[in-house]
Amino acid sequence: MSNLSSLKSIPKAEIHCHLEGAAPPDLVRRMAERNNVELPEALFTDDGTFRWTDFPDFLNTYDMASSSMRKAVDYRDVTYEYLRDCAAEGAIYVEVFSSPDHAATMGMSYGDHLTGMVDGIDDAFRDFGIVGRIIVTCVRHLGPERAVDVARATVAELHPHVVGFGMGGNEMDFTQADFRPAFDMAAAAGLPCTTHAGEVDGAQSVRDAMDHLPITRLGHGVRAIENPDLVAEIAEKGIVLECCPISNFATGVYKDYSDHPLPKLMAAGCKVTLNSDDPPYFATTIGHEYEQAAAGFGFTPAQLLDITRNAINGAFVDAATKVDLLQKVDAYQIET
Ligand code: ADE
Ligand code: ZN
Repeated sequence: MSNLSSLKSIPKAEIHCHLEGAAPPDLVRRMAERNNVELPEALFTDDGTFRWTDFPDFLNTYDMASSSMRKAVDYRDVTYEYLRDCAAEGAIYVEVFSSPDHAATMGMSYGDHLTGMVDGIDDAFRDFGIVGRIIVTCVRHLGPERAVDVARATVAELHPHVVGFGMGGNEMDFTQADFRPAFDMAAAAGLPCTTHAGEVDGAQSVRDAMDHLPITRLGHGVRAIENPDLVAEIAEKGIVLECCPISNFATGVYKDYSDHPLPKLMAAGCKVTLNSDDPPYFATTIGHEYEQAAAGFGFTPAQLLDITRNAINGAFVDAATKVDLLQKVDAYQIET
C-alpha cells in the first residue's frame, strides 16, 4: 500500500460534486448568520458533519443547509472555499454541479447564482491554480417541467465556465425519459450531459438513461453491475462513471470497499473516476476518496493517476484545457 503523504501530492480531478452539498457546517453557519437565516441546531452533528437518516432525509437536510445561501457572494464563497480545499489536497480540476432550482427557491436569479460561482472559480484559479467548471443540474423529484425551465435558463445565458448539463435528485421519482425535453434542449445548445442513475435505483435506471438521454457520463452508474451486458455496453461506448464510493457507503448502497463494484467495473473496461459527491454530508473529501480507495481497493499510485486521467478525459471542459491538465498528470513523478 502507498504511504498517505505520497498520495496527497498525486494530481486529482473530480467531476461529481454538488456545490450546494459542498459547504461544510462552519460555512453554512457563517452564511446563515450574515443572511439572518435560522437553522435548527439539530441539523449539525458534533463532529463537523450534518445529521440525516436515510436517502430522502439526506436530500431534505441538504435542502435545509443550502437554504443558507441567499446571495451571489454566498455562491462565490462556497465555490472558492471548496476549490481552495480541493487544491490543498492535490486536485487540479473540479467540476461542480449546481442547481438553479435551489437558488430560485431562495429568491435568486439564474444570473446572480451564476455570477457568484464564476467569481469563485476565477478567484480560486488566480489564488491556487485549480481549474473549476460548472455543470448546471435540474432536480429529478421537482419534475420534468421544472427541468425544462432550468435547461431554458442555462442555454439562454451560456457562460464559458458552464460546461455541461445534468440531473440530481431522487431517482425513484419519474423516469429518465420524462426529462428528455430538458436534456435535448441542453444538448442542442452544445452542452454535454450526465445524469444520476444506478445509485439508489438498479441497473434498469442506467438502461433508461442510456436509451433516452443524450448522456456521455453517468452519475454513480455503479448498479449497472447488476447487468453484465449493460456493463459491457458502458465499456464499449466509453461512458464515464462518476463513482462516489464513500457516498455509497453512507447512503447504504454498498456496505464497504469489499462490497463495492468499482474494481469489477474497471476490470470490465469501464472508465471509472473517484468523487466526493456531497463531502461534508459523507465525511469525505476528494483527497480522502483517493486515500481510502488506495487502502480499500488496493489501488497503486499509477492506477490512481489513471483514474485522474479518466476524469480529465471525461470532463466537459474544452480540449485545450484538457491537454494542459493531462500534461500535469503525465509530469507527475510517482515516489518510489
Ligand atoms: N443531490 C445531491 N446529492 C445527491 C446524490 N448523491 N444523489 C442524487 N441527488 C443528489
Ligand atoms: Zn451526486
